[in-house]
Amino acid sequence: MKPVRGELVVVPDAKAFAEYGARLFAEEAAAARGRFVAGLAGGSTPRALYERLAAAPWRDSIDWTRIDLVLGDERFVAPDDDKSNVRMIRDALTTHLPAAPRLHQVPFDGMTVDQAAAAYQRDLAEVHGAATLDPSRPFFDLCLLGMGDDGHTASLLPGQDDLLGERQRWVIPVTKGRPEARVTLTYPILESARVVVFLVSGAGKRDMLDRVLSGSDRDVPAARLRPVGRLIWLADRDAAGRWAD
Ligand code: 6PG
Repeated sequence: MKPVRGELVVVPDAKAFAEYGARLFAEEAAAARGRFVAGLAGGSTPRALYERLAAAPWRDSIDWTRIDLVLGDERFVAPDDDKSNVRMIRDALTTHLPAAPRLHQVPFDGMTVDQAAAAYQRDLAEVHGAATLDPSRPFFDLCLLGMGDDGHTASLLPGQDDLLGERQRWVIPVTKGRPEARVTLTYPILESARVVVFLVSGAGKRDMLDRVLSGSDRDVPAARLRPVGRLIWLADRDAAGRWAD
């Protein structure tokens, strides 16, 4: 079975999931000339992949000094808070590397969530060397995204049509729909990618993944993403369900 859009890769289990994801990251980084800009997903699913990247052979085969790591979204909490995505990324990946990549964290101290979103957009415009996006020069070389069992991705949440319809700003504050405020990248910049990989693991995601892959649900945020480049759904067997056959 072929998904309505993109390529589906099904791996047996969580271990193979982390291995496949880490190798894909390393291969894309190796293939890129010069700077490599990667988008990192938050939440729990990617942690094992980041831990795998921070171990041999990838840890030493990647030139981390060439790499910019950008968060797809962040919970608007202190960077050492255990709900913080940047803390998870540090604990699982960057503190274990032989050289430091440029990790672009969402600012927090002394800022409102609106100010943090605007500041992060300025930071990303510096990374890109331009304040506008051009399909011929995608922002991301690789963008890793998660998907919630409600079909949200980054902090683009179902039903928030005003935020889902944002086509100008690259970064916006999200103040409804979650216990804490969020800062999220928007469709224009998430779609500005050579390769987007949705990381979907566990039986809890099976129903939503089936709806998105089959096209029976085209409205949830994850289903709406239209990357300029490749789209890959990386799923373990538990999440893939009937798509694994
Ligand atoms: C976040 C994420 C979010 C995540 C999904 C899936 O900050 O929560 O960026 O979009 O990817 O919620 O989360 P799990 O991987 O924990 O299921």
